[in-house]
Amino acid sequence: MPRDEWVDPEPMEDPAGLDELGIDLGDDSSLRPRTLDDFVGQRELKERLGIILEAARMRGQASDHLLFAGPPGLGKTTLAGIVATELGSHLHVTSGPAIERAGDLASILTKVESGDVLFIDEIHRLPKMVEEVLYPAMEDHQIDVVLGKGPAARSIRFDLEPFTLIGATTRTGLITGPLRDRFGFGFRLEFYDDEDLTSIVTRAADIFGIGVDPEGAFEIARRSRGTPRIANRLLRRVRDFAEVRGHGTIDAEAASEGLRVFGVDERGLDKIDLTLLENLCVRFAGRPVGLSTLAISLGEPTETVEDVIEPFLIQQGLILRTPRGRVPTDAAYEHLGLRPPDPAPAERQLFD
Ligand SMILES: Nc1ncnc2c1ncn2[C@@H]1O[C@H](COP(=O)(O)OP(=O)(O)O)[C@@H](O)[C@H]1O
Ligand SMILES: [Mg+2]
Repeated sequence: MPRDEWVDPEPMEDPAGLDELGIDLGDDSSLRPRTLDDFVGQRELKERLGIILEAARMRGQASDHLLFAGPPGLGKTTLAGIVATELGSHLHVTSGPAIERAGDLASILTKVESGDVLFIDEIHRLPKMVEEVLYPAMEDHQIDVVLGKGPAARSIRFDLEPFTLIGATTRTGLITGPLRDRFGFGFRLEFYDDEDLTSIVTRAADIFGIGVDPEGAFEIARRSRGTPRIANRLLRRVRDFAEVRGHGTIDAEAASEGLRVFGVDERGLDKIDLTLLENLCVRFAGRPVGLSTLAISLGEPTETVEDVIEPFLIQQGLILRTPRGRVPTDAAYEHLGLRPPDPAPAERQLFD
């Protein structure tokens, strides 16, 4: 994700070669919770997932196929690992864009053993042809592989071992109906509240062996855009700051100063968030702006704007998605230190 690279450009180690598969690493794997108990927050999701996994364990069967949806960095990949751990099974990891042809999927599926978990990240990016091969695999544990070409082509049916498919997507809207219907349960991950993020920061600081007091952890948490991945990254930057300029441990002052130095504002917004708000409020003067125009004005791909930047700004009530385009709210003007226009843009939108 381009925005996170600004905060944390460090290359991460990649023992499993996941990067080659197109899987976004960008995280210190030592920070990933391994069990459902260690996974902070998302209380409802945890309760439901816990029941599904317990039932599968009691029956000694693979669990239903599961879909995790939500903005980047909220724990989808982590949960896939947790499901495998909790079921005591092997995890196979791949991603939508990495599977180009039906044959690629077939070779992955034939390696999956009874009860294993197959994780397909960015499942909305699976090619259509591949997706169709996946349907009978999910439903009947069978795949049809076409051998040869032209008139000599023949289709061979393979039986697969029962397995659990886990799909992750940043947007449920991009998953086709037939695919969505084949998942036993779809989970939506929500942004984390400050309290949960404070626990996540404290836990990560513990793993890193850095001293952090509750106020310092809270200061990092509340500026993390509701996102554990960002909380962990900000913690690393604040640790650097505290070691170089402070007295080694992280208190509220070190956190606040460190985050200021690294360009994270009071509300956790960074340069690109602020540019987006400025463009909506000033450059486009509060008029509705289409996604592609907005993306061009930021020099970012439309998917990054829609999946990575906007969700938190919407959740914070700083922008609105309307049928005619994106509009800033009064809170956006206020955050930039500007006077909101009169009447408010959202109302103007309704009446003109
Ligand atoms: N609920 C959580 N509790 C603790 N840490 C978490 C939690 N969710 C995510 N993380 C941390 O945030 C990082 C990003 O999570 P990840 O599962 O890679 O997100 P996603 O796959 O949704 O982009 C992980 O490395 C993990 O350290
Ligand atoms: Mg992920």
